[in-house]
Amino acid sequence: MRLENKVAIVTGAASGFGQGIARRFAAEGAKVVVADIDAARGEAVAQEIGGRFALADVSNDAQVAAMVQTAIGAFGGLDILVNNAGVPQRNMPMLDVDEATFDRIFAVNVKSLYLTAKYAVPALRARGGGAIVNIGSTAGLRPRPGLTWYNGSKAAVNLLSKSMALELAPDRIRVTAIAPVAGDTPMLAEFLGGALTDEAYAKFRATVPLGRLSTPEDIANAALYLASDEAEFITGVCLEVDGGRCV
Ligand SMILES: NC(=O)c1ccc[n+]([C@@H]2O[C@H](COP(=O)([O-])OP(=O)(O)OC[C@H]3O[C@@H](n4cnc5c(N)ncnc54)[C@H](O)[C@@H]3O)[C@@H](O)[C@H]2O)c1
Repeated sequence: MRLENKVAIVTGAASGFGQGIARRFAAEGAKVVVADIDAARGEAVAQEIGGRFALADVSNDAQVAAMVQTAIGAFGGLDILVNNAGVPQRNMPMLDVDEATFDRIFAVNVKSLYLTAKYAVPALRARGGGAIVNIGSTAGLRPRPGLTWYNGSKAAVNLLSKSMALELAPDRIRVTAIAPVAGDTPMLAEFLGGALTDEAYAKFRATVPLGRLSTPEDIANAALYLASDEAEFITGVCLEVDGGRCV
């Protein structure tokens, strides 16, 4: 068991990549806090894996504080934080995106790193170190048209992970990012413009040298490695899990 005796928070764990990460972490022995704004699905995932559910909007200070407190109260501390919760931009011309949507994308995808750090870093320091894994995106490395504001939010996640890694290294807190290529999750339809047509899907798939999109299992495998002690000398990397898309 690669995460035995570790306590982890996975945000956005009611669906998609986050759900895959939470399942995999629990199977490797971690005690997992499943954090999400979707109470019904989040509770179900937490129950299935023997974890705890925390109802938390990662852009809300008080709810993030309570989420970290759930880990400490239920499991006695915190070792791993996976910042996975995120919202997409529907594929559209950049000037058609309204201001409220822009603000929401940056609040959920970027401000969440600030808020979760505010409460999780003291908890990780209290354990003598730990790991933060942020889910960035190939969108922030090799952007696609029609997703401009989302692309920028993910570039911020990729870069913030490196900057946080430098600043938190003296605390033995490793910070890494994962950059998935487009994946088979409920979010995908938004990236394709609102509808999951065979044609749109095939167009995205054709941009991946290994010939398929990413899966929650691909992302969970990468997150497991980066969060585990096997990666004890790895910090500040942005690991592309993309079938070669960014080459
Ligand atoms: N699917 C892709 O193509 C793809 C590619 C690269 C990166 N990503 C990133 O991976 C992460 C997970 O995406 P996914 O594809 O699994 O999406 P998803 O829509 O399947 O899951 C996202 C989860 O986050 C939750 N969530 C949304 N806003 C939240 C908030 N404010 N607070 C807490 N939870 C919130 C949702 O309820 C949902 O359960 C996101 O950060 C996304 O940007 C996705």
